[in-house]
Order: sequence, then structure tokens, then C-alpha cells
Amino acid sequence: MRKQPIEITDYANTITAALRRGVLLTTKNGEKVNSMVIGWGHIGRIWELPVFVAYVRDNRYTREMLDANPEFTVNVPVNGFDKKAFTVCGTKSGREMDKLAEAGLTPVPPEVVSVPGLKECPLTLECRVIYREEQTAARLPEALRRRFYSVETEDHIAYFGEIVAAYLIED
Ligand SMILES: Cc1cc2nc3c(=O)[nH]c(=O)nc-3n(C[C@H](O)[C@H](O)[C@H](O)COP(=O)(O)O)c2cc1C
Repeated sequence: MRKQPIEITDYANTITAALRRGVLLTTKNGEKVNSMVIGWGHIGRIWELPVFVAYVRDNRYTREMLDANPEFTVNVPVNGFDKKAFTVCGTKSGREMDKLAEAGLTPVPPEVVSVPGLKECPLTLECRVIYREEQTAARLPEALRRRFYSVETEDHIAYFGEIVAAYLIED
């Protein structure tokens, strides 16, 4: 499968817009690969590096995967995305099933990190976690805290992933 390298900045708006609907974040630990839908995240620069920051709640299986192997890919649909696959990845946990198989997603060998991309979500960022920050919901304004957090295990962890490769997967 061919990969067309991209300039991250050329696609920053596309990725930001896609986050409003949800994109996939894929992780790998040993032989297990898992994808979850994320809606919170951003592309930017820090420490003079291009980064993607993802916000993963503490109770997600993805959080366990990231802490075991701190690399991930961001997988952005380009020409629509199967609704069932989206539902599986956004509501089921990889603790209970092989979500890729259930969702009909095809892993594509990566270039730099150990985590595959996904054929069905061809716009790909390969990321290596360089910083991890546990957020404290108690520091938020009350209205946001009440809206987004009811128990401690729902706090988010911000994973700052250095973008080490960016490309479009082509057939
Ligand atoms: C549109 C949408 C956006 C989501 N965004 C996030 C997010 O940014 N962070 C997060 O922790 N969970 C988010 N979720 C929830 C996870 O995708 C969901 O809990 C998933 O089942 C977790 O999978 P895992 O347990 O295999 O990691 C989102 C779900 C949907 C449907």
C-alpha cells in the first residue's frame, strides 16, 4: 500500500474539522491493536516540535494501551466513514473485543512508530508520546466540571504526541 507524505500544516484545518465528527486514535501493545473515537485534540507546536495532543479519559482501555506503549496513530476519514465502524470504536471497549475486526478496519504497517495506520481512515499522523499530563477537573470552572466530570476516573490525561510521520494512505 502506497503512502503519500503530507505537510502537516496543509492538513491542520482538515484534521481540526474532522475532530468535530470524531477521528480514530489507534494504539498497540504487544500484538493487540485498538482504535477509539476521539473528538478532543489539537495540532500545534511545542518544544519546537510538531505535536498532536489527545485527551483520553483515565478509564479508557486506550489509556492503558498508551501507558504500556506510548505511541499512537491518528486516523482521519477522508471520503466518509462506515457508521457501524464509528459506533464500535466510539462506544465499545477494546477490553472486551477485537474492535478492528468487529469494525472491519484494516491495519496498515507504519513508517516510524510501532502502531499501524488504518486503510479506511487514510489521513494518518504517527505520534510518539513525549509528555503526559493528568488533568485536574477540580481546577475547572464549576459549570464545565459538572458538565464533563462526575467521578474521578473520568478525568482526562493529555498525551502530547510528537508527529514523526504524516501521510495519506493510497490504494
Ligand atoms: C464523537 C465521539 C468523540 C469521543 N471523544 C473522546 C475523547 O476525545 N476522549 C475520550 O477519552 N473518549 C472519547 N470518546 C469516547 C470513546 O471513544 C469510547 O469511550 C470508547 O469506547 C473507548 O474505547 P477503549 O475503551 O477501547 O479505549 C468519544 C466518543 C465519540 C462517539
